[in-house]
Amino acid sequence: MISSRTLLVTFALCLPTAGAFATEAALEKLLPAPPEIRKILDRSCVMCHGEVIDGQQEIRDDLDLSTDEAIRKTMPEVGRLKQYILEDTMPKKPKLGRRLRNDPKLQERLTALKADYEKSGDKAVLLAWLKDVVATTGEKKKDH
Ligand code: HEC
Repeated sequence: MISSRTLLVTFALCLPTAGAFATEAALEKLLPAPPEIRKILDRSCVMCHGEVIDGQQEIRDDLDLSTDEAIRKTMPEVGRLKQYILEDTMPKKPKLGRRLRNDPKLQERLTALKADYEKSGDKAVLLAWLKDVVATTGEKKKDH
């Protein structure tokens, strides 16, 4: 007979694994990021998600979009990515990280980046890439 303790341990071991596989399956379909997507990520996103600025990497929300490998390691939920694109949360709302906030050049760059994103129709391109992803809904947490 299988003890309830064994069952409990087995269950506990399965939980994180199942979660990791689910994320990976959805993500693997998106990677490697096609060239037009890489271009958008590099232009509109890595400034806060992976770029080294003043000798230190900016990784807001622990998300690094600078390479496919980094995306594999740090993207918690592709559904959240789709939600943020759909709701224009990214790259519009976020402010620069605290250590960069007082740099006028970087502020200018962020403003230009947002205008570029809209002008170039990046949102539609990203959504086409994410067409099979089910978007999450609702708030996650406050900007930090
Ligand atoms: C000016 C800085 C900045 C830019 C540019 C930016 N982000 Fe973000 N990003 C943040 C901050 C700050 C958060 C955390 C706050 C939040 O979740 O609303 C975040 C969170 C996220 C999350 C949620 C991660 C998680 O843990 O669930 C995703 C996905 C994301 N960003 C994608 C993008 C994409 C895609 C782009 C480019 C189109 C982008 N971001 C551009 C600052 C930025």
